[in-house]
Amino acid sequence: MDIIIAIDGYSSCGKSTVAKEVAKILGYTYIDSGAMYRSVTLYCLRNNLAPGGVIDLEKLQSQIDLIKIRFVYNPELQKHETFLNGENVEEEIRRPEVANLVSPVSIIGFVREALVKQQRDMGEQKGIVMDGRDIGTVVFPDAGLKIFMTASPEIRAKRRYDEMVAKGVQVDTADIIKNIQDRDRIDSTREISPLRQADDAIILDNSYLTREEQLEFVLKLAKERI
Ligand code: DC
Repeated sequence: MDIIIAIDGYSSCGKSTVAKEVAKILGYTYIDSGAMYRSVTLYCLRNNLAPGGVIDLEKLQSQIDLIKIRFVYNPELQKHETFLNGENVEEEIRRPEVANLVSPVSIIGFVREALVKQQRDMGEQKGIVMDGRDIGTVVFPDAGLKIFMTASPEIRAKRRYDEMVAKGVQVDTADIIKNIQDRDRIDSTREISPLRQADDAIILDNSYLTREEQLEFVLKLAKERI
């Protein structure tokens, strides 16, 4: 029987890489819950709901039910892409303007409530792999398999550094480590749905594991439960 696989963890830990590969092999749908928070953030930017970086809570609340997010499989690229009210926003939601505003958007209670509802609807048919921060704790507390991914800040910083250098961006390692530690602190100390390991989640510390080893680890656990 199909199950729900919840993969939570810190930023830049490689959650989405593992989640996508697991979904592909099992024939499950991969759902990137971070993309949903990014889509709401993009909606705010486009509709002038965050002038000067300050979110207009009243206006956003009155429009929150108009924000519909879907994931559509692109057979050419062989991946799911994020659609905001019918428009493909997969690339736009990865831009720095969105990344800079997504943290304050994701701490708003009514935003989380609306997105959790949409996430639960997507999980109704089971057969999904969803990654995020609160999937095993809040969205699907009864998920068939919960993984909590982690890696040392230094290793995550090194991965982020290599990624940036590959893109031709000049960066300082100390700045990256600080940014990662700041995000960890914000994610795990926020009042609503903070990032924390669910009691029944299995830890995957991938500091010294290859992609293949991580995949094998999760697939073995999934197959025992399906
Ligand atoms: O995984 P990501 O970097 O794309 O997530 C973007 C932001 O959304 C990140 O700041 C944390 C937040 N987020 C969240 O609060 N809850 C989730 N389930 C997923 C992401």
